[in-house]
Amino acid sequence: MAQHIAVLRGWHPALAMAELAALLPSHNPIISESNRFAKLEGELTPSEAFETLSVSSGCQAILLNGFIHNWQNDESILLEKVENYLQNNQREGKMAVVPLRIEGKLSQFSSSQIAGKIGGIMSRIGWQIDLSNPANRFSITIDGSSSQIACGWMVGDESGSEGVAHRKATQRPFFKPVSLSPRLALLAVNLAAGPIGNGPVIDAMTGTGGFIIEAAATNRQALGIDLNSQMVEGANQNLNWLLKQQNITQSSAKIVRGDATNIAASIDKSWIGQVKGFVLDPPYGRNSQGSLEHDELLTKTLTSAHQVASNEASLVLIVPINSMPAQINSALDNKSQVDLLHGDWHSLQQLMKSSGWQIKNRWIEHVHGSLSRLVIHAKYVLLN
Ligand SMILES: C[S@@+](CC[C@H](N)C(=O)[O-])C[C@H]1O[C@@H](n2cnc3c(N)ncnc32)[C@H](O)[C@@H]1O
Repeated sequence: MAQHIAVLRGWHPALAMAELAALLPSHNPIISESNRFAKLEGELTPSEAFETLSVSSGCQAILLNGFIHNWQNDESILLEKVENYLQNNQREGKMAVVPLRIEGKLSQFSSSQIAGKIGGIMSRIGWQIDLSNPANRFSITIDGSSSQIACGWMVGDESGSEGVAHRKATQRPFFKPVSLSPRLALLAVNLAAGPIGNGPVIDAMTGTGGFIIEAAATNRQALGIDLNSQMVEGANQNLNWLLKQQNITQSSAKIVRGDATNIAASIDKSWIGQVKGFVLDPPYGRNSQGSLEHDELLTKTLTSAHQVASNEASLVLIVPINSMPAQINSALDNKSQVDLLHGDWHSLQQLMKSSGWQIKNRWIEHVHGSLSRLVIHAKYVLLN
């Protein structure tokens, strides 16, 4: 069976891995010995790989039919594998070799020398090299921290400068300190809603519209709701700005005034039982609106989400916690304690369970010295 290698961005490989599994469930992504390389199974065309990369937050590139080599100062073995690969995966048009170093260094390894030698193999096969405008890019992606090298025909971005990673919430017309970073917002939308075209996604407490902007940019059916009309107006400004900036002429994304504790009242009747993803970044501290206490607001919101959810739905809930050491290469284990800024972990766990959301995984995202975020991924379960 064909195997491909996805190269994950460095800001949070564990979240990137979860996002990839949500976007490409039928390719059964699994992490390799390197935290930055995921293996994908099954047929994947260049255009399918490109589509995935163009909506993903955490995935930088896909090496089609690629392989991973465990570097043991064995240049000749690596070059032999590369030559075999090129012979078995021939392509038309001009070629370039793209070395990409994602973490650390390898001993006795010079990427420019190896790239030159691979260029030599390509010339011997009879291919023409064109570094400025190649039709095909063969990547050697080097993860020095695990001594792994991934090789293959590359779809994606070698500079790391494209995509959501470099956009900032402050660039939008309506910004508030509560605005989530675009890369986390996009990742959460993908993690919650799954493959593009899967079904609608709802952000019931949309604030400046961070999640809905990302959902609109990736052509999802999406609805943002907020109780505060100023937020609704500002989030709509942000949404219109994004659509104009990205030349999107047709979008079904909308932001309306409404109450998260009664989502059914804000949505089209045809969405009831069909919503595939929920993203939720509830208010905290002085940004709180309305009269409900934190836990009561959350319980009622999760219950109202459950009432309109498809039975395959997922939910991503992001809550602030007291700072924890960065942990970007794995999810938290089940027993790890977290110190929520509002309420305690045990009650949050209970209230999610009683509203029909079963926790699948949790990750920590570092914000600054005194603040981290807990990203919780939960699945819909039937309530008795
Ligand atoms: C932390 S902010 C969300 C920030 C958002 N993720 C962003 O990127 O801008 C929480 C939002 O929840 C809204 N809110 C509070 N209670 C609500 C309710 N019952 N229904 C809908 N929105 C509510 C607040 O007005 C606030 O805008």
